[in-house]
Amino acid sequence: MDTVEIRRRFLAHFADRGHTVVPSASLVAEDPTLLLVNAGMVPFKPYFLGDLPAPWRRATSVQKCIRTVDIENVGRTARHASFFQMCGNFSFGDYFKAEVIPYAFELLTAGFGFKEADLWATVYHDDDEAEQIWRTLLPPERIQRRGKEDNYWSMGVPGPCGPCSEIYFDRGPAFGRDGGPIADEERYLEVWNLVFMQFERGPGAGYDYPILRDLPSRNIDTGLGLERMATILQGVDNLYEIDISRPVLDRASELTGKRYGADPADDVRLRVVADHTRTAALLIADGVVPSNEGRGYVLRRILRRAVRNVRLLGGRDPVMADLFDASVRALGPIYPELTDREVAITQIAVGEEGSFLETLRTGTTIFDTAAAAAKTSAGAVLPGADAFKLHDTYGFPIDLTLEMAAEAGLAVDEDGFRRLMARQREAAKADRRGRRIGNVDLSVYRPLLERSGPTVFTGYTELERSSRVTGLLGGADGALQPAAVEGDEVGLVLDVTPFYAESGGQEPDTGKILFDGGELEILDVQRPVADLVVHRARVLRGELRSGTEVRAQVDADRRAAISRSHTATHLIHQAFRRALGETATQAGSLNSPGRLRFDFRSPGAVPPSVLADVEDEVNEVLVKDLEVRAFVTTQDEARRLGAMALFGEKYGDEVRVVDVGDYARELCGGTHVARSGQLGSVKLLSESSVAAGTRRVDGLVGIDAFRFLAREHLLVARLAGALKARPEELPDRVADIVGKLRDAERELERVRADAVLAGAATLAAGAEDVGGVAVIAAEAPPGTSGDDARKLVVDVRGRLGERPAVVALATRGDGRATIVVATTDGARTLGLRAGDVVREAAGALGGRGGGKPDLAQGGGTDPDGVPRALGVVRAIVARTTGG
Ligand code: ALA
Repeated sequence: MDTVEIRRRFLAHFADRGHTVVPSASLVAEDPTLLLVNAGMVPFKPYFLGDLPAPWRRATSVQKCIRTVDIENVGRTARHASFFQMCGNFSFGDYFKAEVIPYAFELLTAGFGFKEADLWATVYHDDDEAEQIWRTLLPPERIQRRGKEDNYWSMGVPGPCGPCSEIYFDRGPAFGRDGGPIADEERYLEVWNLVFMQFERGPGAGYDYPILRDLPSRNIDTGLGLERMATILQGVDNLYEIDISRPVLDRASELTGKRYGADPADDVRLRVVADHTRTAALLIADGVVPSNEGRGYVLRRILRRAVRNVRLLGGRDPVMADLFDASVRALGPIYPELTDREVAITQIAVGEEGSFLETLRTGTTIFDTAAAAAKTSAGAVLPGADAFKLHDTYGFPIDLTLEMAAEAGLAVDEDGFRRLMARQREAAKADRRGRRIGNVDLSVYRPLLERSGPTVFTGYTELERSSRVTGLLGGADGALQPAAVEGDEVGLVLDVTPFYAESGGQEPDTGKILFDGGELEILDVQRPVADLVVHRARVLRGELRSGTEVRAQVDADRRAAISRSHTATHLIHQAFRRALGETATQAGSLNSPGRLRFDFRSPGAVPPSVLADVEDEVNEVLVKDLEVRAFVTTQDEARRLGAMALFGEKYGDEVRVVDVGDYARELCGGTHVARSGQLGSVKLLSESSVAAGTRRVDGLVGIDAFRFLAREHLLVARLAGALKARPEELPDRVADIVGKLRDAERELERVRADAVLAGAATLAAGAEDVGGVAVIAAEAPPGTSGDDARKLVVDVRGRLGERPAVVALATRGDGRATIVVATTDGARTLGLRAGDVVREAAGALGGRGGGKPDLAQGGGTDPDGVPRALGVVRAIVARTTGG
């Protein structure tokens, strides 16, 4: 039974039982507590919590999921994968235990053909009710009770949770011990988890979290691993060998020339490559790009692990394009977003592969240097600082450092490495904390939201209005407080606000809030949880109490400038798509007053001529003075209308569409101008790379664009005046001047070198005889550079012919002195080696040095030591020759 058929049967089984089939949400979680969707229920979380009314009483879905916590197990066990699909059925306050258990049992036996005798169930240790229901279907000896670790489920973050019941399939004695799931989870494979969602949990690690309350209703959430089911139904050993994984595995094997099944260690690597490539393809398809934080980092890590494992398998050439091709073929029939954007998706992976291969090359050089130094150290240990630098500066993964060190016969100071990593993490955490509104834990917002309801935003149509304070959050922990006084900085919640909270790349509004006898300054506005706007405010005068009526005033000039940037961003986005094709989609943006930043997908740098065309087209749209119009519609309708959408929108939602005339249409919650003419003008400043496959342009809008152009114009006029040329002659004129200057510098350099060498004859003539060796030990003329000194000693040595000779020249500069020594063949025959001479002489300069027998250099920090150092040279010659 192929995967497509298993999905179909699952969804049909529940559709027949009154469930609405809901498509998979994007992997990019909307939920602010999660980076990536890790279970089928994640998109439904607000319905379980009662934050939003559920659109259906019953639903069923097959949700794309990513779990990377046990990434080390991927490829090693039969049942861990970083990407998987969770089939689920959900009840929002509708049916409960008595229905869900038989529903699942029927599908497994009648739908998928499992024999009753092969099924086992577990229930939470105090759940008599679930056990009773199971007893109507299974004999009591195949129902086991387990504790919190196994039969209690939560998302791992604050949210809905509850006891669960799991269904296991007995693979038979060949796979392990008797005794049911409590004895052996390799033989008894978990196939389905039925969660009785009844409670809400607060923050806390592991199982050490508080239960905050009963949920408003009793719900059902279940998860059946599609890949695990396919493993069983297709009779293969593990989930890398099922129909939608095997082709990628085979391609990896072809590309590396390693046959699957020939060597257990290679098999693990092949599975890792197959698993990670598919996961990466799906992440990129949902809009994630490689970066150093958040989900971008998850993706980067996965791609790099894939590349590295290919390398461990002996592959040296880039393989991502081929592996992505195999992944898209395997999963495209289920996820058309892969096929639709195959080219763009692959480009991103290929770009990241290229830069990582480069990292590996540079890192290997750095590693070799560090390893050579470590070999001579006591205990042959690579210092933690080196491992950290490799990781931090060169992006070299620690496991790679460990492996290469082992090959080189070195240990690594892992504790030292981890200490440095921990220190860096702390610094990053402190930085993130500092940026959050009022240091508030997310859990404080829920009671507020429950008590006062969602904040109503009216800022699309008005910038000033009366509203009421419904909450004041203050102190280090962001607790609710009744009042705030002059000088306090608080998180302020209003029932209605015209202030725009930062989102979609648009900066938050600032402004003022006035109340009877006082005034607040609004510094920042955020929406820490959906529907709740929190203003960071400083009390300038007076005492503000919760419940007070206030007057909220947005800084109108600033808002207008931000709106101009936002509308400009839409125009630029559209112009790039027209110039470069549909793949040039937005990857991020920042809209500030008068200034914007726009990131978009493009495999390589955008030529200046295209930038000029984009800029030109955008400015033409401004002149046409098109009307900007926003309207709300369903997501399906918006797609039908061809609106450009970013990833991660929630399905079934109403969406806001912004049109600029008939030129651009985009899903957007931001604020805009009324007509394109209000932008005045748009100027693109620079184009650069932000990540593999992602480019960035910076731009100016409105009066800022005009002022920039005016300044540039003035600058050109001044230059033209100074060079006595017309503006269009400037490039040639400057090139001409630069050329002449370069010639003059070369000439000057030649003259200076001649002057230095002219001294060579004089120096050579002044050689003293020490025991039959010609010795020149002198201070070079002031201003002689290190380079010149080296040239000079070599020149002087040449003038001394075949005689045994030692030439030493010292220079001194700002708090430093150097000495260069050259020896002739004759001198070396006597045992006078330049390296040895320098080593000893540099001591007199308070430093160190050394080098080859014929030419060496050293130096120190004591310029006054020069006469002594030169004396040392003479003394060495005297000592060696006995003269
Ligand atoms: N949410 C449950 C799980 O992920 C079904 O196992």
